[in-house]
Amino acid sequence: MPAASSRTADLRGKNCIVTGASRGAGAVIAARLYELGANLLLVARSTEALRLRRDELARAVAGSGQLHMLAADLAAPEAAGRILGEARRIWSRLDGLVNNAAIQGPIGPLWENDLGEWRRTIEINLLAPVALCHGAVPWMRDGGGGSIVNLSGGGATAPRPNFSAYATLKAALVRFSETLAAEVEPFGIRVNCVAPGALNTDMLAEVLAAGPEKVGPEYEKAARRAREGGDPPERCADLVAFLLSEESAGITGRLISAVWDGWSSLASRVEELRGSDIYTLRRIVPADRGKEWS
Ligand SMILES: NC(=O)c1ccc[n+]([C@@H]2O[C@H](COP(=O)([O-])OP(=O)(O)OC[C@H]3O[C@@H](n4cnc5c(N)ncnc54)[C@H](OP(=O)(O)O)[C@@H]3O)[C@@H](O)[C@H]2O)c1
Repeated sequence: MPAASSRTADLRGKNCIVTGASRGAGAVIAARLYELGANLLLVARSTEALRLRRDELARAVAGSGQLHMLAADLAAPEAAGRILGEARRIWSRLDGLVNNAAIQGPIGPLWENDLGEWRRTIEINLLAPVALCHGAVPWMRDGGGGSIVNLSGGGATAPRPNFSAYATLKAALVRFSETLAAEVEPFGIRVNCVAPGALNTDMLAEVLAAGPEKVGPEYEKAARRAREGGDPPERCADLVAFLLSEESAGITGRLISAVWDGWSSLASRVEELRGSDIYTLRRIVPADRGKEWS
């Protein structure tokens, strides 16, 4: 059972969808949001895994909210419609959407990747969150606001050789989030991305199973992480809870690292943050590195 950590944000009565909630980071995020009082719609493909997670949550975490679940394959174009349809059936408003589910995609150099797997990664890691936002925004707007959190990661901010689909789509998700954040700000809707850190989940097991030849230079680091332990997923869950709560009012269009960034003091820096490009994806020019190349 994923551990929930110390209380901070208040999510009492907030209705939130969490995708990929059956295991890994999503399960820990769900536990945290539930502990903080949120009503949850847990989404993943496996009904059995979702049922286990929901029952475990109800048993082990002291939450006051409701727990709902829906099995849906985000690779299917109709999945977002089904998820939002179910959410509308059980709730009259939507406060939070956490696009956490993702797959690793093909591992190995691009020319050896199966393009079908690449397309499937686009569908799950990018088009599904886009479709969920597409349906959630009008509903949140009608309810007076909301908060969307998209799980990104290291692949977004630096090249990740042998993981081209994953890295490309995490970068795309960040630019999508920055863009949507600007579009929906007048409606009181915020959109942020979270980099959860290096977590020892099934994604790490997949990397190790692919072997050093396909994975390349990252393999050794992954093997060390498996031996020594990864970053705590609770930190990511706390950041997601913060971004869904009123505590983070004014913070939008950012990619925030759960483990590297001092986000717990960010609420006191909202004005400074808004006037800056801190925690965004931007192009680096020579002057940024102290060089005059004109
Ligand atoms: N692990 C890391 O080190 C790391 C680092 C940076 C970013 N991230 C990001 O953090 C998020 C969570 O990663 P994780 O490591 O916790 O992943 P994980 O352990 O592999 O869990 C993935 C979750 O997504 C669900 N899922 C997978 N494919 C799906 C589909 N087609 N439709 C619906 N649900 C699907 C899985 O359940 P089912 O299989 O039952 O569908 C599971 O609940 C991802 O966005 C990942 O990219 C992770």
